[in-house]
Amino acid sequence: RFSGSLHFDRRLIGADIEGSQAYARALTRVGILTSDEASTICKALASIDPDSAAQSNDEDVHTYVIGCLKEKAGPVADKIHTGRSRNEQVSLDTRLWLRGRIDGTLGLLRGLMSALLDLAARYPEAVVPGYTHMRRAQAVLWPHYLLAYYEMLMRDHERLTQARSRVNVMPLGSGALAGSGFPVDRVALASELGFESITLNSMDVSGDRDFVLDFLSAASIAMVHLSRLAEDWILYSSEEFDWLELGDGVTSGSSLMPQKKNPDSMELVRGKSGRVIGALTAVLVLMKGLPMTYNRDMQEDKEQLFDAADTLASSLEMVREVIDTTSLKPERPRQAAEDSWVVATDLAEALARSGVAFHQAHVLAGQLVLESVQTGKKPADWTPDALVAFDPRFTPEMASLMDPGQGMKTRRAHGGTAPETVLAALSEARTRLEKLS
Ligand code: ARG
Repeated sequence: RFSGSLHFDRRLIGADIEGSQAYARALTRVGILTSDEASTICKALASIDPDSAAQSNDEDVHTYVIGCLKEKAGPVADKIHTGRSRNEQVSLDTRLWLRGRIDGTLGLLRGLMSALLDLAARYPEAVVPGYTHMRRAQAVLWPHYLLAYYEMLMRDHERLTQARSRVNVMPLGSGALAGSGFPVDRVALASELGFESITLNSMDVSGDRDFVLDFLSAASIAMVHLSRLAEDWILYSSEEFDWLELGDGVTSGSSLMPQKKNPDSMELVRGKSGRVIGALTAVLVLMKGLPMTYNRDMQEDKEQLFDAADTLASSLEMVREVIDTTSLKPERPRQAAEDSWVVATDLAEALARSGVAFHQAHVLAGQLVLESVQTGKKPADWTPDALVAFDPRFTPEMASLMDPGQGMKTRRAHGGTAPETVLAALSEARTRLEKLS
């Protein structure tokens, strides 16, 4: 029970069968199997019921598949391991399985990016305060805020695609560690199994789990992004903010307090990020002291990998559901922007544009804020006359900047929050997304 892995690595059974079929065909090309024998083996492998492994006590999925093969095909099955080790098989199976899971995850990521763009398009003009240090800083458009997450997810997509290319390398033909003594055509095996290239050192194959770490690292970063979005939305949907209404289907009540509408879905996304980061940490620590080449410790990578892949996929699905069922109450963040001094920078910059040195402008706008705070004035309370009376370096036109939707119009440099810039960014983001699929 202690050393067995079948209860979890049976998830690799499809990959193990596919790899063994390809290897049987490769053995015909080196004269170990006749083509009749290979086709007997391939048919027997195809007839294995993937679910049957749940009832077996075999040590691992590779042993289990060989056992089934012997039962179904008879003594010819004994030839399938010619020149082949479980050490390369486990690498092959994990790579095949992970490649498929990455493809599914990339699709989920694209779906999530698309949902973000849809939500942005529902409130194209909504003004919200942007925060630094969790204090109201400068006004931005709601779509601009959502596009920030789009960019993070786009980098996640890039990282996972890069991880996929390092996963997608064919290890068979490496033997246990020293290479194959049979002239198997490794390039043919690679193209048959859909790999881009072949591994170049047999010892590296036995001892390498970098491709698992590549995935876990990309998955961890993606989970950090989902966790931060979750944290934002837990806050933004609270009574204190009251910007967002989360869908009823993604919230829960309390067993005691009748009024509660708790954001459990997003709390779980935030919580589950810890599992994936934990998996990355576990495999890093698992690998760091291993002598070359294969060591049984490496069997411990799989539960971490499976759990992380499942957690990332389900979190992406959950966040998608939350995004699709959430609505913004645009007047609430608008009010929050108007009630604060997010326009202070706009004023300072307007002064700078009119010739006041920026540092002096910063001081002057700061004095105006201080005066307002002390006298209980909000930005909208400043009339053009009062502003000029406060200091003649202000012009009457600058009073229009007291509306938080105004100053942002100057932020037209690429990547900024000016309305037309954001509109262009949204359509550019949609085009970029469409190119991926
Ligand atoms: N179950 C093993 C693993 O996951 C497969 C390789 C076993 N190789 C060995 N020599 N015991 O790593």
